[in-house]
Amino acid sequence: MPKVTIDGQTVEYEQGKLPYAEHGKPESLLDICLHFGIHLEHACGGNNACTTCHVIVREGLDNLSEMDDDEADRLDMAPGLTRRSRLGCQCVVQGDVVVEIPTWNRNYVSEGGGSMNLGNAIPASKH
Ligand code: FES
Repeated sequence: MPKVTIDGQTVEYEQGKLPYAEHGKPESLLDICLHFGIHLEHACGGNNACTTCHVIVREGLDNLSEMDDDEADRLDMAPGLTRRSRLGCQCVVQGDVVVEIPTWNRNYVSEGGGSMNLGNAIPASKH
């Protein structure tokens, strides 16, 4: 039963049992956050077309799916990139993880900068 802690809030769930809400990959960090009502910005709807779901993994980096080239290319554009950065919509949780939302992103959202409308700039979901 994976335990996910994001900015101090912890949730546990049975792997493979969450109803997929079509935001990011199934059981991605974003999918889990949205299921449990934890806010993680996702301006492109989880389509790997922005970097607003950027998180920094403090513990459990090996408990996330391996980063593919598409995520790596997109992540390169993220402000405040670290060696422990991932995109919440692309990393699938496979065990316990502790992550934090970068301060710049938290501030951006709290100041009303989140949930921008990108209109037709969003590519169709690959799912
Ligand atoms: S929500 Fe846009 S890349 Fe993750």
